[in-house]
Amino acid sequence: MGRSDLTQKAALEQKVQLVSNYKIMAEKSNMIISAVTPSSAVQAAELVGNDFKGIYVDLNSISPMQLLSVSNNLKTAKVVDGAIIGSIDQKINQVQIIASGEHAREFARLNYFGLNIKIVGAEIGHASAIKMLRSSYTKGLSALLWETFHAAYKLGIDEELLKTISITEGPQFESAAISRIKSTAFHASRRAEEMQQVKSFLSEIDNPLMVHCVEKTFKEIIRKLGKLDKKPPSTKFVFSLWENQF
Ligand SMILES: NC(=O)c1ccc[n+]([C@@H]2O[C@H](COP(=O)([O-])OP(=O)(O)OC[C@H]3O[C@@H](n4cnc5c(N)ncnc54)[C@H](OP(=O)(O)O)[C@@H]3O)[C@@H](O)[C@H]2O)c1
Repeated sequence: MGRSDLTQKAALEQKVQLVSNYKIMAEKSNMIISAVTPSSAVQAAELVGNDFKGIYVDLNSISPMQLLSVSNNLKTAKVVDGAIIGSIDQKINQVQIIASGEHAREFARLNYFGLNIKIVGAEIGHASAIKMLRSSYTKGLSALLWETFHAAYKLGIDEELLKTISITEGPQFESAAISRIKSTAFHASRRAEEMQQVKSFLSEIDNPLMVHCVEKTFKEIIRKLGKLDKKPPSTKFVFSLWENQF
């Protein structure tokens, strides 16, 4: 189906049967889980098409409006709105997946196979709205940490600042902040894409200001660091890389 070597190899390692097109996949499947990239979510649904009658779970980080476009391409399917909360770099039963819509219960049956799916609403759009608002908060925090600790790194006071903020934010702050900065460097591209979804979602209900700066921050990180091939070892490594790109 035009997938990269990396993706085909990963699928084969998991003993996933590869097929040559979406139609064959739809014919063979009772349930399709779409976890592509946010910008490909609508196209993937379009390629599955209007003949699919099974359960179609969209797990991409997309806004409720985009989810509507996904649904419109799947007239006969039982569409479930789903969202992955947090990172998938942990054991599968620890990854929280939230789901909504009238068919969410059918998807949640996968809990018998070790998944951790929680139903959060009866309507399509509830799960993705929660995901968008969570992203607005967590990615906003990451962008703020990036800017703050980059300045602290340049002044040579980053370690002391971590300790100082921990006094009021609690002992978990230090490791959480370091982890956020390193993963921001590694996942900047996916996060910039996600912020576009968050921006269009928030713009429908409000007049957001912060989200524009957060998106700009991630785009700037991509421009200066490029795509890293693995998670960086430390925040000092990240910021020294960033400085050398000037
Ligand atoms: N990873 C996480 O921790 C995490 C957490 C929360 C939410 N999510 C969401 O889950 C989705 C997947 O995330 P990821 O981290 O796996 O992304 P990723 O590393 O960018 O991988 C995307 C995968 O989707 C495939 N793909 C792209 N377009 C496709 C299409 N039209 N049809 C079929 N496959 C397609 C890609 O194949 P190619 O290599 O051939 O392009 C690749 O295997 C995203 O929407 C993301 O927002 C991920």
